[in-house]
Amino acid sequence: MTEFEMIAKTFQGLEEILAKELIELGANGVAIGNRMVSFKGDKALMYKANFHLRTAIRILKPFLHFKADSADEVYDICRKVDWEKYMDLSDSFAVDSVVYSEDFRHSKFVAYRVKDAIADYFREKYGKRPNVSVANPDLTFHIHISHDDCSLSLDSSGESLHKRGYRQEAMEAPLNEVLAAGMILMSGWDGKSDFVDPMCGSGTIPIEAALIAKNMAPGLFRSHFAFEKWKDFDRDLFEQIYNDDSAERDFEFSIKGYDKDPKAILTAKRNAKAAGLLDTIQFEQRDFKDFEPVKERTVIITNPPYGERLTDDNLLGLYEMIGERLKHALIGGEAWIISYHYECFDNIGLKPSAKIPLFNGALPCELRKYEIFDGRYNDFRGGDRRLKKDDLPTRRSSTLRHKARLAEKEEARKAEFIENTDNKDFKRERPARKPSDRKPFRKEGDKPFRKSEGTRSFRKDGDKPFRKSEGGKTFRKTEGAKPFRKSSSEGKPFRKSSGTGRPAAKKGFKKQ
Ligand SMILES: C[S@@+](CC[C@H](N)C(=O)[O-])C[C@H]1O[C@@H](n2cnc3c(N)ncnc32)[C@H](O)[C@@H]1O
Repeated sequence: MTEFEMIAKTFQGLEEILAKELIELGANGVAIGNRMVSFKGDKALMYKANFHLRTAIRILKPFLHFKADSADEVYDICRKVDWEKYMDLSDSFAVDSVVYSEDFRHSKFVAYRVKDAIADYFREKYGKRPNVSVANPDLTFHIHISHDDCSLSLDSSGESLHKRGYRQEAMEAPLNEVLAAGMILMSGWDGKSDFVDPMCGSGTIPIEAALIAKNMAPGLFRSHFAFEKWKDFDRDLFEQIYNDDSAERDFEFSIKGYDKDPKAILTAKRNAKAAGLLDTIQFEQRDFKDFEPVKERTVIITNPPYGERLTDDNLLGLYEMIGERLKHALIGGEAWIISYHYECFDNIGLKPSAKIPLFNGALPCELRKYEIFDGRYNDFRGGDRRLKKDDLPTRRSSTLRHKARLAEKEEARKAEFIENTDNKDFKRERPARKPSDRKPFRKEGDKPFRKSEGTRSFRKDGDKPFRKSEGGKTFRKTEGAKPFRKSSSEGKPFRKSSGTGRPAAKKGFKKQ
C-alpha cells in the first residue's frame, strides 16, 4: 500500500511517548514536533494509529502544503482544490484551524475562508453547496498555519481520541484519558507488578492501566472514527485490524482503585464495567489515610485534588498525609503524583527522583516520581548511584523553565484547548458536561459499532448497536465476562464487552 504523511496530535509533554508508540506500531519517518508527531505509513497504519495509540488525540492526513500570508490568499488556493476527491455534495463538513502567525490574526476567519472556498467550488459546479455541520460532520478538514506555511489535512479521527467510549458518567474533573495513559507509559509500568490509584475518582487511571496491562486497544469501545466516512474507506482492512487480538495478553498482578467518596467508586465501577474490565480492577471505598502496606514493586499513579487556589489548609494537610502513607506503606515501590502547586508537593515531604512538566487541560502541572526505600534515601542513593545535582532540578530552575515554556506556549495552548474542547474559555478547566448535555452514545440511525452477538456480522447497516441486544435491552447482562470477538467468516471470534454499560444519566461528580 502507498505510504503517505500523517500527523498525530497530542498534549504538550507527551510527544516522546507518542513517538515511541508510533515506532512500535510500525510507523516510518517518525519526527517529534510541538504537541505533535509526524510520521509516514499506509492506510492500515492510519487505521491502527487511530485504534491503538494511547497518547494521540487525533490523526491528521495532510494533502496540500502551500504558502500564503492572508486569508484571501488561502481562499484562492483552496478554491482550486479538487474537493470531490474527498467529499460529495451530499456530505456535510467542518473546517478546523490552528494558526501561529502574525499575518493571520483570527484563526476562525481562516476557517471561514476555507469553508467559503469549498462551498463556492460546489456551488459553481452544481448550483448548490454542501452543508456545514459543527456537531457531526461527515468530513472535517483542518488548516494549520505557521507563519506563511499552510497545510490542509483531513481529520481521520473525528471526536478526540481521548473519548475512548467507556466513560459512562459525567464527572466534574476527570483526568483526560490520553494524559492518564501517558503518565502510566512514562512511568514504565507495563503490567509486571501491582498497581494502585488510591484517589481514583471515576477510575480513569486504573482503567487505562488495565488496558495497558492487557495490551487492549483503547479504540475498542469507540463507536466511530472519521475515516469510516471517507470515500476510500476499506471496511475489510479495518475489520481485520479491529478483530486482531493476537497481541493481547493475560495480566497476573492486581490493579486497585480506591477513593474516599462512595459516589466515585460507583462511577469508577460503571466505567470499568463498560470497558469489560470489572474483573481486572478491584475498586473499593477507602480513605488514603487508611492505606496499608503493599507488596514490593507496587506502583502508585494518582491525581489527588489540587484545586486552583491554595486557600484550603486541608489541601496541604492531605498532601502531608499522602507523604506519610507513601513513606510507611509503599516501601520498595514507587509513586507518581500529578499536581499543580509546588506547595502541595512540598507538603509531601519526600524527595522526588523525577519531575516532568505536563498540562492537565490548561493547567500547567508536574508529574513527580517518588521512590520509597527501606532506610534513608541518601543511604540507598549512595556510591555510584548517588544522584548528581543535575538529576534533580532545583525548585527555582524548574519553576523558571516551566514559566518560560508557559509564556512561549500560551498561544499554542489556547488554540489547542479550543480545538479539543467545547469550551472556548481556555483559561478555565473544562467543566464536565451535564448529563443533559451529553450526546447519546449512539443515535438512532447510526451505524452500530459492534455487531450483535446473534447475527455476527461486522458493523453493517442495520446492525444492532454496539453492545449486544438482548430482548430489547441494548447491553449485556453478564457482569465480569471477558470481551469477545465476533466470528468472522473464518470463525474468528469477535469482541464483546462485559459491561452492561447503560449510559447512565447521573449527576456530575464533585469538583476537585
Ligand atoms: C482529582 S480527583 C481524581 C480524578 C480521577 N483521576 C479521575 O480521572 O476521575 C481526586 C479524587 O481524590 C479523592 N480523594 C480526596 N481525598 C481523598 C482521601 N483522603 N482518600 C481517598 N481519596 C481521596 C476525591 O474523592 C477525588 O475523587
